[in-house]
Order: sequence, then C-alpha cells, then structure tokens
Amino acid sequence: MIKLIDTHCHILPGLDDGSQTLEQALQMAEIAIKNGIETIIVTPHHANGAYDNPAFAVRESLSALQEELAGRNMPLRLLPGQEIRIHAGLLDEWDQGQLLCLNQSEYILLEMPHSHIPDSIYDLLYELRIKNLHPVIAHPERNAEIIAEPDRARQLVEHGALLQLTAGSVIGMHGRTIRRLALSLCRQGIVHLLGSDAHNSARCISALAEAYRVLEDQLGSSYAEYYADNANRLVSGTSIVPRDSPRQSKRWYQFWHH
Ligand SMILES: [Fe+2]
Repeated sequence: MIKLIDTHCHILPGLDDGSQTLEQALQMAEIAIKNGIETIIVTPHHANGAYDNPAFAVRESLSALQEELAGRNMPLRLLPGQEIRIHAGLLDEWDQGQLLCLNQSEYILLEMPHSHIPDSIYDLLYELRIKNLHPVIAHPERNAEIIAEPDRARQLVEHGALLQLTAGSVIGMHGRTIRRLALSLCRQGIVHLLGSDAHNSARCISALAEAYRVLEDQLGSSYAEYYADNANRLVSGTSIVPRDSPRQSKRWYQFWHH
C-alpha cells in the first residue's frame, strides 16, 4: 500500500468542530492508518469566528495526542499546522508568532468564506509573499464564487496562491458540479495539494486514498504523483514546484507563431 500524507485534517480533539474527544481522535487515527495514511498535518480552524487556536494551543494538543498514539503503538506521525481564516488581523498575528505554517515550512494554509472571495485577498497574498510565505488556499472548489466563475481560481494562483483540494470533492462527495470543477482545476495545472479535511468522519479520511485513485484513473498517474510528491515536500521541508499549466503552454505556442 502507498504511504499517504494528509495535508488537511481536524483530528486534534476538542479544538474545533473536528474530533471532540480523545476517543474520537484515536478512532480517526485508526481509520487513517488503515487507509495507508502515515502522516497527518493537523490543521485546526483558527480565527474563523467560532474557533481560535493560536500556535501554542495547537502545539500543546499535538504533543498530547502524539503521546497517546505512541503509548498505543499506533504508527501515525502528526505535524503542526492551522487552517487560518482570512481576517483583518492575520498579518499582525503572523508577526506575533500566533500562526503556524504547514509543518513549519513557508506554506501557510488559508481558508476563505464559502460564499465568496474576499476583496482583501489579493493584498493579503501580496503581503504574505513579501514575507516569503506561500499561501495555500483550502478547498477553492467549494467556494460559491469560484463555482460560478471557475477562472477566479486561476486568478488566485496568478497572484501567488497554491490550491489544495478536498479529497471528498474529487470523488463526488460534494456533488457532480464540484467534482467536475475539482478535476478541471487539476487539468489546468493549478492544483498543488490534496487533503482529507476530515472533521470526524471515517468517510472523509478514506476519501484521500480514493481521490488519488480517481485522479490516476481520470487524469493519469502524473497528477496523483505530483500531489503526493508535493505533500512529501511539505514533510521533508523542500519547496513545491509549480506545475506547468496547459493554458500557459498554449500562450507560449500562440506567442511563438505570432
Ligand atoms: Fe478544514
């Protein structure tokens, strides 16, 4: 079985709307292990209006759960992260050390509201890039504005964002439209990572392995390999290489024949 890395998961107990108790977290861990996941970057919600989980709270909860796993000989490695809602104080919080990148890399996971793309996002992407951070946008395929106008996703990438799809979207858990959009974003070469975004659901955890299989079937193994390699890069602390998009190469083609 291929060893998988989940780059988006709400497994830490009692921090957000993910697992609520140690027992639930351990159940999620067991299902993850059964599904070939050997590493999870934990990404509790932060600053989303309902939950605040600054860096120290995540670190503390992570070590406690890692210890419980070790005590039970459960082979699952947890690495730190956050899913940070785009909000006015984000840059100040970064300066104050309250934010965590994915596994202490320069990749920072951001969440937009589901209803729209905030106007402030382009300034924020710019400011983050100045700080040498790479913003990763979680589940763009579930954002209403992108669903209505898929080119908005490309715009975010052109402004320095990377995109992370939810595995469940790829396998149709959020309906046919979102599945089609997810695959189309992949085909355009503007997707960089996959994550389960599992809150407390066995189905979402098992969706990760399934999504990799679907991508291999539908788009070819190079796509699945690219996303798996990028997740590996997060874990090993190396940089993610952008994938050349078909549209870019078309532009070059047109330019060449001008
Ligand atoms: Fe999430």
